[in-house]
Amino acid sequence: MPSSRTRLIAGNWKMNNDVPAAKELAEALVEKVPAGNGVEVVICPPTIDLACTSHKIADSAIKLGAQNVYWEEKGAYTGETSCSMLKSVNAEYCIIGHSERRDYFKETDADENKKAKALIAAGITPIFCCGESLETREAGEHVAFVTAQIRAGLEGVAVESADQLVIAYEPIWAIGTGKTATAADAQEVCGAIRATLVEIFGEELASGIRVLYGGSAKPENIAGFLAEEDVDGALVGGASLKADDFAAMVEKAGE
Ligand code: PGA
Repeated sequence: MPSSRTRLIAGNWKMNNDVPAAKELAEALVEKVPAGNGVEVVICPPTIDLACTSHKIADSAIKLGAQNVYWEEKGAYTGETSCSMLKSVNAEYCIIGHSERRDYFKETDADENKKAKALIAAGITPIFCCGESLETREAGEHVAFVTAQIRAGLEGVAVESADQLVIAYEPIWAIGTGKTATAADAQEVCGAIRATLVEIFGEELASGIRVLYGGSAKPENIAGFLAEEDVDGALVGGASLKADDFAAMVEKAGE
């Protein structure tokens, strides 16, 4: 990994932790996650926990991300959360395009595209997720599938500096299953993602955009992924719910 890209470890809490539990985990993370080791750290709690988590991490180096957003500014969209609402709790990142949202909530590439545009316009960095199913991988179509998701999701998205966008490659078959991709599997797709970013945004910008791996990433396997040229960090689900594990991953990313 060229030294110009700061490693990023992002925790995706998914639908876990009510407000008291979120406060407790945030406090433990502030205490345990190493600061000043050159790794950027983001936690993405459920929407209901954003405000209290923001408060708990305010004096730490840990940054806040959301798990979802709606692209309209305000109005009659029951149950949704706008970019300005995320900004009001100091969220700097927002996960979009996660396979769980694509699968369970039927979000499309066009939806992710609108979310990416709204977030970037609001000054929030999308963590744009992509990844193939087991069936697609077994058919040998994973690279074509993932790069098509990137092209469709980022069509017409105006990125002016590399810190305005993060990509997370998460093979669906490795999410929450305990099955991880090999480091070489991750590099194959992350390298193809970078090549696609070069086509879309040009060499200079694309070489600075962070591409993360996600899918059963944990303290025991993170170093292998990070050793790959185009893997700049991890989007961590299960292991981000345990302060000790998450802190250990940040520590390893700083080595
Ligand atoms: P996992 O989830 O680490 O529990 O596999 C990763 C993710 O879905 O972001």
